[in-house]
Amino acid sequence: MSVIALTSAHGAPGVTTSAFALTSVWPQVRPGRRVLLIDADPAGSGLMTGPLRAGIPDGLGISVLAAVRAPLSVEQLIGCCVALDPAAARMVLPGVSDPRQARPLGPTWVALVDVARGLSASGVDVLVDVGRLGHQWEPTVWLTAADLLAVVVRGDLATVLPATAAVRALTANRPAGSAVVGVVVDPGPYTSAEIATALGVREVLTLPSDVRTARALMEGGTGGWIDRSALLRSARSVVQRAAELVPDVEPVVAR
Ligand SMILES: Nc1ncnc2c1ncn2[C@@H]1O[C@H](COP(=O)(O)OP(=O)(O)OP(=O)(O)O)[C@@H](O)[C@H]1O
Ligand SMILES: [Mg+2]
Repeated sequence: MSVIALTSAHGAPGVTTSAFALTSVWPQVRPGRRVLLIDADPAGSGLMTGPLRAGIPDGLGISVLAAVRAPLSVEQLIGCCVALDPAAARMVLPGVSDPRQARPLGPTWVALVDVARGLSASGVDVLVDVGRLGHQWEPTVWLTAADLLAVVVRGDLATVLPATAAVRALTANRPAGSAVVGVVVDPGPYTSAEIATALGVREVLTLPSDVRTARALMEGGTGGWIDRSALLRSARSVVQRAAELVPDVEPVVAR
């Protein structure tokens, strides 16, 4: 697996919560691999008001990385990330707390795409929270260059209709054959096939409505009932399917 970007077209369907849920279960589903969640929402980080709200140590985050002269290295990227567990099997690159801080980040995102691809060969998969489409400082390069692009919607017309137009535009700007999928949070009365047809994507992955777990997870909760929750059980299936859609990059073997 390599780079998977998550975005939305309208409202707040659950991009950040879904990305964090996938990150939480990643090493369980993909033993031996680690995961890095890049917090690229230019509107302001949903993680810094959530699981990272206890504070971020000095010297970490995208704004620190932006001050480093390109080309960036894997070590520089990892060095700016917060580890969520002692083994650093799950990491987050903290984003911006204020949209004004997103303005100068364009070249940094471009530089990070190549680094992110390099991480895959070192056993680290990358998820990117791109936030809502159309922001003035949208990190567009993740939308065009991610190996898998997931558009997050709810199972209602208010989020599916704007997403349909967005999927068309996103697909036109991506290499032919590269995957765009839907992620539906709380499908409501609709089947995955119905939402896939409405969105114009070949596949929709599903996460259930699970308010209690969504809240607990974003408050930094782990283990116990959270691990057994409907949300994290479905998140494991989504990671499994995403891994099938985006094959692993073979590790670079020194000769
Ligand atoms: N699977 C879920 N079940 C129930 N509630 C959820 C789920 N996922 C997210 N939510 C809730 O939906 C709301 C929005 O979630 P979140 O912040 O993740 O959305 P977002 O798409 O990242 O929004 P924004 O565009 O503002 O960044 C939050 O109240 C969150 O708890
Ligand atoms: Mg968000």
